[in-house]
Amino acid sequence: MKEKIHMHRYERIWLMFGGGTLVVFLVVLFILAFWMGMTPPSDMQVVNAAEVDKTPPFDKPGLHQVGPHEYDAVMIGFVFGFNPNVLEVPAGSTVNFKLTSKDVVHGFEIAGTNVNLMLLPGHVNTISYTFEKPGEYLAVCNEYCGTGHQFMSAKIIVK
Ligand code: CUA
Repeated sequence: MKEKIHMHRYERIWLMFGGGTLVVFLVVLFILAFWMGMTPPSDMQVVNAAEVDKTPPFDKPGLHQVGPHEYDAVMIGFVFGFNPNVLEVPAGSTVNFKLTSKDVVHGFEIAGTNVNLMLLPGHVNTISYTFEKPGEYLAVCNEYCGTGHQFMSAKIIVK
């Protein structure tokens, strides 16, 4: 016996809309991934999270001058803070941030800039930023990491 499924017209339209949206999303995803080549970083530097304090460059956290107006900022995120938590650079300096976490997932976002990193234990994440305007920049953890999450911050003083 053949039974015909009864479907309301609006139901059918809604189903087509849902299916169509899914197809559009998949097409966009495939274009971004295979045609525009947007992929997550594949060759991220790794570090043993349990040995962060003994592994270069994290055995010497801090600001290291590498050029006339260029610095490497080696920082470690932990519950609940950053080491170091104050950096001082002259205006016009390019800072190459190199960060990792030694416990859980943290974030590193500098307010008013496009610096926004995720700190995954076991991985090193980097970003460079040129601080043109003098002032105090607040860096915060933007990944909820526990009871002290809201206290996890650092300061970059540009003068
Ligand atoms: Cu670290 Cu939130």
